[in-house]
Amino acid sequence: MTSGLSDNLYVNPDDRVLIYIDRRRRWITKIEKDKVFTSDRGFIYLGDIIGLGYGSRIKTSTKFDVYLLKPLLIDFLEKGLTRVTQVIYPKDQGFIVMLLGLSPGSRVVEVGVGTGNTTAVLANIVRPTGHIYGYEIRKEFLNIARKNLEILGLASYVTLKLKDAKEGIDERDVDGAVIDVADPWDLLEPLHITLKPSAPVVFFIPSFNQIEKLYNSLVEHGGYIDIRCYEVLLREIMLTREAIRPSSLMIGHTGYIMFARKVTKV
Ligand SMILES: C[S@@+](CC[C@H](N)C(=O)[O-])C[C@H]1O[C@@H](n2cnc3c(N)ncnc32)[C@H](O)[C@@H]1O
Repeated sequence: MTSGLSDNLYVNPDDRVLIYIDRRRRWITKIEKDKVFTSDRGFIYLGDIIGLGYGSRIKTSTKFDVYLLKPLLIDFLEKGLTRVTQVIYPKDQGFIVMLLGLSPGSRVVEVGVGTGNTTAVLANIVRPTGHIYGYEIRKEFLNIARKNLEILGLASYVTLKLKDAKEGIDERDVDGAVIDVADPWDLLEPLHITLKPSAPVVFFIPSFNQIEKLYNSLVEHGGYIDIRCYEVLLREIMLTREAIRPSSLMIGHTGYIMFARKVTKV
């Protein structure tokens, strides 16, 4: 298996390997026999890595330690996929997955696939028996999303649709939905038709104005309850022997997470 999220114990040609020198110096590289990997800490011949076990330590040409790690999905999301649109960050994706209660076998609709970052997270949770139905109106984004999912080995768990979800969502009785578009209030009726009774939907919303408009629309629709809104803040703690303290850099704003559940419309 040569997909991004492989179970290989040893480095194979075409594997994507996380070349790790330190917290800042880490890159995902495709292993091609005749290629050379270069960094400010020296170079390594990628052909020399083939056959080594994941977790091995090697030296660069300038004698710096390099570790060969198998990339996790979060490494791909941060370093290894092509992104063009604004993406939902892992800190938010993790909470979204919890709110939706996803597990293997879940069927989920996603509106606003972009280049597939969140699609990959959802597919990785619901596989091997679940499925993601992803809607996107820009063909060029969908093509990148397809490529990203193929790199990760997740494409078979996803159906990508070049379609405006406002014109209707084709699936019925899905277990949950993730909506990341600028005008989510226009999707409340198609979503209501698509979701299983009592199923959750999560909206990713960048601004307060949109929260207010979506909240009012959900209340007025009458088919949603348990409406909530969250912001997830994540602060990394820097670890050194000398001093352990919060990082001075932090992502200050990504977006807000709104949650609601489908009930019978009154
Ligand atoms: C912010 S991006 C989504 C990013 C994605 N959630 C991620 O985490 O990688 C929003 C996407 O929604 C798409 N979009 C906007 N309105 C849509 C609609 N009505 N139906 C389907 N896709 C739509 C846009 O073309 C854009 O690619």
